[in-house]
Amino acid sequence: MAPLLPLLLALAGLAVAAAQPGQPFPPFPQQSTDASDAAALLAVFQRWGLRYGPTVNPGDPCGTRDWIESFAQNASVGCSCDGSPVCRITHLNVTGYWNLTEIPPELFNLTELVSLDLSNNNLSGAIPPEVANLSKLETWHFNNNQLSGPFPNESSPLRNLQSLWMFDNYIEGLFPDFIANFTNLTDLYA
Ligand SMILES: *[C@@H]1O[C@H](CO)[C@@H](O)[C@H](O)[C@H]1NC(C)=O
Ligand SMILES: *[C@@H]1O[C@H](CO)[C@@H](O)[C@H](O)[C@H]1NC(C)=O
Ligand SMILES: *[C@@H]1O[C@H](CO)[C@@H](O)[C@H](O)[C@H]1NC(C)=O
Ligand SMILES: *[C@@H]1O[C@H](CO)[C@@H](O)[C@H](O)[C@H]1NC(C)=O
Ligand SMILES: *[C@@H]1O[C@H](CO)[C@@H](O)[C@H](O)[C@H]1NC(C)=O
Ligand SMILES: *[C@@H]1O[C@H](CO)[C@@H](O)[C@H](O)[C@H]1NC(C)=O
Ligand SMILES: *[C@@H]1O[C@H](CO)[C@@H](O)[C@H](O)[C@H]1NC(C)=O
Ligand SMILES: *[C@@H]1O[C@H](CO)[C@@H](O)[C@H](O)[C@H]1NC(C)=O
Ligand SMILES: *[C@@H]1O[C@H](CO)[C@@H](O)[C@H](O)[C@H]1NC(C)=O
Repeated sequence: MAPLLPLLLALAGLAVAAAQPGQPFPPFPQQSTDASDAAALLAVFQRWGLRYGPTVNPGDPCGTRDWIESFAQNASVGCSCDGSPVCRITHLNVTGYWNLTEIPPELFNLTELVSLDLSNNNLSGAIPPEVANLSKLETWHFNNNQLSGPFPNESSPLRNLQSLWMFDNYIEGLFPDFIANFTNLTDLYA
């Protein structure tokens, strides 16, 4: 295995060097992000008007170590590769922009998410029922937005939740009964 790593680094270096700001990034020699995850993440960021920096390969965000521009400060992406050649996006953190108002539907295609932090973004409207897709979430923070309506009935698959922060929104009504079955939920700020 030893000679492989320098080779990959050299190839990645070539790809970075070839990239021009504002032009499509050339494909990496080895795709490591699940294609559906990569497409969904790109769509999410496009909807939010957040551009990837020139060193980010849109087809392989998990292979990126160097997120520049606004990302370094307020957004991060984490992946799990688990010894598999294909990495899945497991962590997404986009906080503190204050100018993001919609939850893009493509977000709910990131079905391997374990942690999602969308706090301090001015998101509005109801929490979409498609949140049911995110059944692996352990951490879900969306505090300090303008989300309204009930905590969705469709959230019952999210029984791995450990940390749920939803304060400073306009969520109304009681939690659905099934929340009593979220036995790992020890960090709830409603
Ligand atoms: C999201 O998933 C749906 C089907 O589950 C698919 O039709 C759609 O193309 C996906 N969107 C993106 C941006 O990956
Ligand atoms: C939000 O602000 C960031 C910079 O702070 C900008 O890059 C982005 O385009 C803005 N998004 C929207 C939807 O206005
Ligand atoms: C997301 O990033 C912000 C800013 O770096 C940080 O304060 C917060 O703890 C992160 N959230 C999670 C769930 O990691
Ligand atoms: C990033 O978040 C911090 C608070 O965590 C905020 O002060 C700052 O304005 C945000 N930056 C952008 C580009 O929105
Ligand atoms: C937050 O959204 C509201 C509309 O829902 C808008 O009036 C306000 O200007 C937004 N705040 C920022 C900082 O973009
Ligand atoms: C997300 O859930 C909706 C229904 O709630 C479903 O139609 C869609 O196919 C799901 N997407 C993925 C990627 O699982
Ligand atoms: C959620 O389900 C309960 C029980 O089935 C029902 O009484 C309530 O109206 C539902 N709420 C919504 C917003 O669908
Ligand atoms: C809760 O946490 C335990 C221990 O970390 C884990 O084994 C279990 O799968 C988690 N989920 C549920 C629904 O209990
Ligand atoms: C909680 O879980 C138990 C056992 O799986 C089930 O019988 C019960 O219907 C669940 N309660 C709710 C409100 O979902």
